[in-house]
Amino acid sequence: MAESMEILAPDAAGIACAAAHLRAGRLIAFPTETVYGLGADARDGTAVAAIYAAKGRPSFNPLIVHVADTDMAKRYGQWSDLAEVLASAFWPGPLTLVLPLADGHGLSSLVTAGLPSVALRVPAHATARALLSAFDGPVAAPSANPSGRISPTTAAHVVNGLEGRIAGVVDDGPCSVGLESTIVGLTGDAPVLLRAGGLPVEAIEAALGMPLAQPDDAKITAPGQLTSHYAPAGQVRLNAEQAEGNEVLLGFGNVDCDLNLSPSGDLTEAAARLFDCLHQLDAMARPIAVTRIPERGLGVAINDRLRRAAAPRDP
Ligand code: TXA
Ligand code: MG
Repeated sequence: MAESMEILAPDAAGIACAAAHLRAGRLIAFPTETVYGLGADARDGTAVAAIYAAKGRPSFNPLIVHVADTDMAKRYGQWSDLAEVLASAFWPGPLTLVLPLADGHGLSSLVTAGLPSVALRVPAHATARALLSAFDGPVAAPSANPSGRISPTTAAHVVNGLEGRIAGVVDDGPCSVGLESTIVGLTGDAPVLLRAGGLPVEAIEAALGMPLAQPDDAKITAPGQLTSHYAPAGQVRLNAEQAEGNEVLLGFGNVDCDLNLSPSGDLTEAAARLFDCLHQLDAMARPIAVTRIPERGLGVAINDRLRRAAAPRDP
């Protein structure tokens, strides 16, 4: 559905309007010091699914959750001494920390792509901070460009790429860094560089007093690309007409099944529920059959994820 796109000023009225859109589950692009982000309420699976739809992303990768300050970050990620060192040295700023999910985090499982960790960032840009404070909640935000296109560093880039697909953009001129944030993983024994970005690695290593480990395999750099990350315990069979034998049936649309991604056949709802359903099926430890999901819109990303879940397992 095409929406008219509001161009909002970075003043109190514009920020209040942007925060109201986020509260209503709509998408708002906003400036950060790195690139313009495409924001949605990170607790609202349907709003997060709409990010993927607007970007035309063919797969679900975990998204960065933006928060106003360190206190808010602690609600979503498990804090540690290393997190404290890096946050006090570089937040607000172009650094993202991947932490184990905190208990009772309340984030949509689509934001984390079903992983037990979350990427958190406190941006330095005054307008981003004003919006995060006004919204007073976590904002999932990848770069505000269509999938496969160049990241936007001005509101005009955002309008060119996403006009008609999002509620609005807060225009506050060009981004100063122009390169996505550096991502450091703090979920294992040693801090790991997950993505080089706007904050130089040398600065991070100096603050830590130790070198950053390099990701040793594709699993860490691109969790969404690894089949085993999402593979439930049971075998998965796609495009099923009905359950056979001991199978549990995951359905889509008006079908008789054990668990339904979206009884009304809404792909946005199905995307929002996908990882929760996979976790529930995983707990059942039975073979899984999935009915056909249309290969259009968000269905492309849903099928991509399901094909990974169904792919032959590593020994
Ligand atoms: O500068 C930035 O970081 C921009 C602005 C808008 O803040 N945001 C951005 O977000 O680039 P996004 O969502 O596109 O970044 C996603 C990256 C991916 O490389 C993803 O693999 C990594 O963050 N990531 C997110 N959650 C992760 C997790 N739990 N474990 C490992 N990597 C994760
Ligand atoms: Mg991007």
